[in-house]
Amino acid sequence: MIITRTREELYKTLEAFSKRPGKLALIPTMGNLHDGHLSLIKLAKLKASKIITTIFVNPLQFGKNEDFKKYPRSEKLDIEKLKEEHCDILFIPRNGEEVFSKHEKVKTLDSGTLGSELCGKIRPGHFDGVLTVVNKLFELINPNIAVFGAKDYQQQILIRKMAKSLHPQISLLKAPIIRSKNGVALSSRNNYLSEKELDIAANLFKCLQNSVNSYKKRKQLNEILNNANSFLVSKNLMPDYFELRDSELNLVSKDNFEGRKVFLGSVTINNTRLIDNIEF
Ligand code: PAJ
Repeated sequence: MIITRTREELYKTLEAFSKRPGKLALIPTMGNLHDGHLSLIKLAKLKASKIITTIFVNPLQFGKNEDFKKYPRSEKLDIEKLKEEHCDILFIPRNGEEVFSKHEKVKTLDSGTLGSELCGKIRPGHFDGVLTVVNKLFELINPNIAVFGAKDYQQQILIRKMAKSLHPQISLLKAPIIRSKNGVALSSRNNYLSEKELDIAANLFKCLQNSVNSYKKRKQLNEILNNANSFLVSKNLMPDYFELRDSELNLVSKDNFEGRKVFLGSVTINNTRLIDNIEF
């Protein structure tokens, strides 16, 4: 695996790889890699012969009181895992300047109305930051394919919309959610939780499953959502939101049982926010 830490190294490596046949797939991450991230690489390999992963923990997508400074960083281990997955290129910028050069004006993107709903309501500006970063990575790397996880459902929809208008040549893939044995969606932020808290966290997935089952039995949506919120509170998982949307994240009218839907939840446990969803 070729490790690049500057834009120049990145460009040189991409130039060399452009002479090789096959498609280039990009997997953007913030590092502290787990099996969820690695599943994105596995999926990418089914469609592309050249894989580039980026590790960039960028302040743009963290709010003032969020965990940018303490976000788990594990560069050595990440590199080992990427080598095991046979990733071809890693771009791990030595500083933010290698992504957003001071000689260029930052193209700040606006995530619109959807960007201030659900997670965006709790994290104002977060999705503008995500889109700004991902757009910049797309500009620097211009891959044929980019892979994002269904775990960050709203992020994946917003990036899809952004890419459709600014990078229509890039095909986006959505990778299924990878969970631990007890059902908790893998996340770098799970590192903040104790074993006991992780067991409690499994109730978010349970709650999503119960809600899907009740909805399929055509129970009243209000009742499902009330039950879900009470259940989460009873387990000491403080709900930030728990909602049903259609698969594009539009609001769902009460009695519309047609088409694909998604239940999405966000809970806080011991100052750590966890998100999860089930699309059905
Ligand atoms: P990060 O949280 O590191 O996640 C990187 C990618 O891995 C995202 O597409 C995310 O949805 C996916 N992922 C994380 N946990 C997963 C799981 N359990 N199952 C499947 N996929 C999972 O999301 C970001 O970084 C950043 O916002 C980024 C897109 C890199 C922009 O900075």
